[in-house]
Amino acid sequence: MRVAIIGSGPAGFYAAEALLKRTDVAVHVDMFERLPTPYGLVRGGVAPDHQNIKAVTRVYERTAARPTFRFLGNVRLGSDLTVEDLRRHYHQIVYAVGNEADRRLGIPGEGIARCTPATVFIGWYNGHPDYRHAKIDLSVSRVAVVGNGNVAIDAARILLRTPAELEKTDIAEHALEALRNSQVREVFILGRRGPEQASFTPPELKELGEMEDAEPIVAPGELAGCVIPESAGNSQQDKNLMLLHAFATQQPGAKAKKLHLRFNVSPTEVIADAEGKVAGLALEKNRLEVQHDGTVKARGTGEIETLEVGMVLPAIGFSVERIAGVPYDEKAGVIANQDGRVVDPLSRSVIANEYVVGWARTGPQGLIGSHKAASAHVVEHMIDDGAGLASRALPEREAITALLRERGLQIVSFNDWKQLDEVEVARGERRDAPRDKIVDVEAMLEVLAPR
Ligand SMILES: Cc1cc2nc3c(=O)[nH]c(=O)nc-3n(C[C@H](O)[C@H](O)[C@H](O)COP(=O)(O)OP(=O)(O)OC[C@H]3O[C@@H](n4cnc5c(N)ncnc54)[C@H](O)[C@@H]3O)c2cc1C
Ligand SMILES: NC(=O)c1ccc[n+]([C@@H]2O[C@H](COP(=O)([O-])OP(=O)(O)OC[C@H]3O[C@@H](n4cnc5c(N)ncnc54)[C@H](OP(=O)(O)O)[C@@H]3O)[C@@H](O)[C@H]2O)c1
Repeated sequence: MRVAIIGSGPAGFYAAEALLKRTDVAVHVDMFERLPTPYGLVRGGVAPDHQNIKAVTRVYERTAARPTFRFLGNVRLGSDLTVEDLRRHYHQIVYAVGNEADRRLGIPGEGIARCTPATVFIGWYNGHPDYRHAKIDLSVSRVAVVGNGNVAIDAARILLRTPAELEKTDIAEHALEALRNSQVREVFILGRRGPEQASFTPPELKELGEMEDAEPIVAPGELAGCVIPESAGNSQQDKNLMLLHAFATQQPGAKAKKLHLRFNVSPTEVIADAEGKVAGLALEKNRLEVQHDGTVKARGTGEIETLEVGMVLPAIGFSVERIAGVPYDEKAGVIANQDGRVVDPLSRSVIANEYVVGWARTGPQGLIGSHKAASAHVVEHMIDDGAGLASRALPEREAITALLRERGLQIVSFNDWKQLDEVEVARGERRDAPRDKIVDVEAMLEVLAPR
């Protein structure tokens, strides 16, 4: 059976692994990736100071080394390649395209200069080619990060790390240079609900207390009404509360930069200065309301304050980027599907032989490891549905690459990527870093050109 997987993040690689490990069906996988580099958010999202997490790529390298696997990088579904092309050349298709669009706050002033979605800031410091030219102005002293998830924590931490902490990471050189000259001294992480509802995880919260020259500050009033547990057990909520309580009770130290964690506030307007750049953020105080189903919602009280900040980074989640010909679930912000089988968004009837895995299936929730079982689950559906499919004659396996070359595309193979990888690792040695990323697609293709 011949399968096309679109996207080379964790979900795509785990789907490939589950397919290629089968002993009951012989599967060939072609993995298409819009960038010349693989690994999705493991390369372009995971924070540079979390190198241990990135080691997961070794597992994906083993999948890529299988003779029945082919990587076709620098090929974007929707422009270089159509869904119709895929249907003609493959028995089954798996969309593993992640969530590349950012959610919006939907408040006045959101689009002004220095109000930048966290996606942009994160892509910029991680050397994602889409964001290499992003304007990140670090001449301001105070920044607000909106959201209470791990992405908000990542963004705040990178803003506050010292150059020495960052140099040894694979942070993009342009970001390192800008952060060396950064004037940012205070960052505010703003949660619309309370400490008990925060979705950041305890190791990430704890790390905020371990930065070289920045310290977390929680005003005691922020924890009012929270019952601080004596011991945390296994609950994320309890562990978070204990850590926040520890931050709230410690005396402010000598570290130059401060990270304020604030809760129960929602931005209502991004305020501009005379030049149209961020000068502040209007915040409405919230109260919490328990719903019939037990969930807790934030409700505005009408009490407004202005937080003086020069930059706002909303880190409030993502949704799937629409691709021509791929059905989209408007309400859920994902590719329309039923347990991983792609469906028509209106009739909900299954579109045969098309599947979706990862964040494109579920929305932006879950750690890298969670995709292993989730992708394998969808692969079970593929195998159940695929009986007899392989007898459908397809064009030669090389026909798809010939077609793409006819369209003028330079396809990047996995061996090509390994060559880029070597170049990046060698460049990184200059600053004793794991790699110094090439951040420009043209420059990547130039490295490969003489071959
Ligand atoms: C900032 C950030 C930090 C994170 N840090 C951690 C962490 O430390 N630990 C952890 O466990 N989890 C972390 N996560 C979560 C983890 O990254 C995700 O769970 C995981 O990457 C989602 O996998 P995916 O394969 O669905 O999507 P992605 O990783 O986003 O991969 C999607 C791939 O599809 C490609 N693609 C998109 N559109 C097309 C197209 N049209 N044609 C071809 N290719 C396309 C993209 O280029 C990308 O390579 C983090 C997430 C973010 C946002
Ligand atoms: N180091 C790591 O392990 C790491 C790093 C980064 C990301 N990740 C993972 O990647 C996934 C995505 O992370 P994430 O931080 O983007 O998602 P998240 O955990 O869902 O956090 C999103 C935050 O945005 C808030 N929010 C949403 N809409 C808002 C609005 N209109 N106004 C104000 N706040 C709003 C949410 O509040 P409500 O809760 O009130 O909705 C929530 O606090 C998570 O599974 C995360 O654990 C992991």
